[in-house]
Amino acid sequence: MKIGFGIIGFGYVGHKHELKIMETEGAELIAICDVVPERMDDAASANVRKYTDAEELLKLEEIDTVVISIENHLHKDMVIRAASAGKNIICEKPVGLNVQELDEMEAACKEHGVIFTVHQQRRYDRDYRIIKEVYDSGELGDIYTIQSKLCGFNGNMHDWHVYKKYGGGMLYDWGVHLIDQILWMVPAKLCSIYADVRNVINFEVDDYFKLIFKFENHVTAEIELGTYLLTDKPNWFEHHWFMGGNKGSVYSDGFNPQGKIVKTTRLLTNTPGETTMTFAGPTRSFGALPEGVVYTEELPNVQSEQIMFYHNYMKARAGEEELLVKIPEMRRVLRVLAAVWESANENKVVMFEDN
Ligand SMILES: NC(=O)c1ccc[n+]([C@@H]2O[C@H](COP(=O)([O-])OP(=O)(O)OC[C@H]3O[C@@H](n4cnc5c(N)ncnc54)[C@H](O)[C@@H]3O)[C@@H](O)[C@H]2O)c1
Repeated sequence: MKIGFGIIGFGYVGHKHELKIMETEGAELIAICDVVPERMDDAASANVRKYTDAEELLKLEEIDTVVISIENHLHKDMVIRAASAGKNIICEKPVGLNVQELDEMEAACKEHGVIFTVHQQRRYDRDYRIIKEVYDSGELGDIYTIQSKLCGFNGNMHDWHVYKKYGGGMLYDWGVHLIDQILWMVPAKLCSIYADVRNVINFEVDDYFKLIFKFENHVTAEIELGTYLLTDKPNWFEHHWFMGGNKGSVYSDGFNPQGKIVKTTRLLTNTPGETTMTFAGPTRSFGALPEGVVYTEELPNVQSEQIMFYHNYMKARAGEEELLVKIPEMRRVLRVLAAVWESANENKVVMFEDN
């Protein structure tokens, strides 16, 4: 028997969920709902039922699972309503605006015995999975730096994302994805956080941040996002990764990643006196690369795409595997966000009590 789905909130991402549900084996989209009826005019599925009141959709017995894809500040109430109606829930990120909201949502889901997960589908982004695979392989030795950087060009943040009261700003938008990716990659306690968070060209909400996370296993991760980091470099306005260990490095540029694993034939070989003359004067440590000193390897061939979030959900629904995205992980992301704001507001390093 197919698993019946409903979507509450049929805006930008609601449409994406529709297509994903339609292409997921064993899933059937029963109904969609949006308070603005015209948003549902271009629904791709011919026979889908349409509602403007979520209660009508939540009453449908054929619906097993609801996807909640409404504005961030509305997630908490809708999750509680869906749980009370006995529906399993996939909620969009950020799951809530803070830990207190998440606690209320989780309590309702536990009380009504429903599945509760969050659409952190960027755990399946190919560029991320490639870097994670290199991390997991251990081939770079002791990793000491991970850099994750995302650059935009015109400060573009659309619709409600520019207002605080709706849960706008880039930390709640891409920030929770980038933080989640790092936390899910580094299997160690997070010890401290330093954050620089700014409104560069937006009035109310953050549109730039640099976060520095120090982990107990001596990894330091740096996440930088700007909606207005102008250059004319090709491929710049995409996701960039750099990871360095004591046996090599890896870089990856772009959502369809171009990059290499880079190692050296002369690790720790002392080369005194070899001076390179550069335009900025002579240097012994930072000149041009001599011939034959580094060699490269291809990035691992990782096949990963966001639809796999749904594949995992369907298997978890059938009791065949664990849900990929778990609520305690989301609580950790929200706790980290709170520490990020504390650090930024007070201009200090915040010691993080990880658990
Ligand atoms: N996982 C991702 O990569 C990703 C990408 C984009 C957006 N999102 C998340 O999805 C959510 C929605 O973002 P969006 O960009 O699609 O916003 P959007 O404004 O395009 O869509 C939200 C829709 O919800 C509707 N809505 C509001 N209240 C409702 C209610 N009570 N009942 C029914 N419909 C209601 C609105 O009318 C609107 O059409 C946000 O939480 C956002 O953070 C996630």
